[in-house]
Amino acid sequence: MQIITTKQELQRQVEACKQEGKTIGLVPTMGALHEGHASLVRRAVNENDICVVSVFVNPTQFNNKEDLALYPRDLERDAKLLSSIGAHYVFAPSPEEMYTAEEMNQTFTFDFGGLDKVMEGKMRPGHFNGVVQVVSRLFYLVQPDRAYFGEKDFQQLAIIRFMVERSTLAGTFGNLQIVGCPIVRESTGLALSSRNERLSEAEKQTALAISHTLMESLEWAKTGSVREVEKRVTDTINAVEGLEVEYYEIVDKTTLQPTDTFHNAIGCVTVYCGKVRLIDNIQYDA
Ligand code: PAF
Repeated sequence: MQIITTKQELQRQVEACKQEGKTIGLVPTMGALHEGHASLVRRAVNENDICVVSVFVNPTQFNNKEDLALYPRDLERDAKLLSSIGAHYVFAPSPEEMYTAEEMNQTFTFDFGGLDKVMEGKMRPGHFNGVVQVVSRLFYLVQPDRAYFGEKDFQQLAIIRFMVERSTLAGTFGNLQIVGCPIVRESTGLALSSRNERLSEAEKQTALAISHTLMESLEWAKTGSVREVEKRVTDTINAVEGLEVEYYEIVDKTTLQPTDTFHNAIGCVTVYCGKVRLIDNIQYDA
């Protein structure tokens, strides 16, 4: 496995692979890798000749400086994990390598057909512009055949699919296929997240109420209305000391707009566990 830090070297390697007719799978990450990322990388390794993993904490998608500063970073540990599961290249550029000073400060605005106006987009203005800025750059540099994203960030996945299939950028990434992969959970039910590293053991226990409540809500959905279930989930989590729901919305999986039926519906939650912001979701019509 080779660690690459410059765009030029990355493009050189990609070009050589393309010349040999090899297929490329890309897994974009911000590092602090866990079993959830590992599941994406294993899949990319199995389905492509070459697997490229990017490890880059993208400053332009953080609208909270403290969150950016506290985001866990450990390239050495990440590289060990990636090498053990068969990744071929790790692309780990510095922010200066990735962006010019102008790009770093410029406010990009992409049109996501309204997908960015709800939930995370409402709470973190500009977040998805930063995500698309970096992901589109990675797509141009790596020219992957497939790119892998976790369903935990369901709205991010929907927006990236939109970018590739329906936005003004559609068609510019060749036949790129976006592959969504299921949430990986601890045996306790807690959704894996790099942010879990910031939870104390006690907070980890407290946070279990999030996934447990979401699972229970599958039962509630058999008899209650969408709005009733939304309220019950929110109230149940808020009743746990140390947890505070930022939003819980049951939306249509395709449009991400509020829905009145559980058909094609997903419930997306963001909860503060102490100072750590956690997200999770549950599909009612899986
Ligand atoms: O999901 C993430 O880790 C990031 O948003 C991504 C897709 C790697 C872009 O920085």
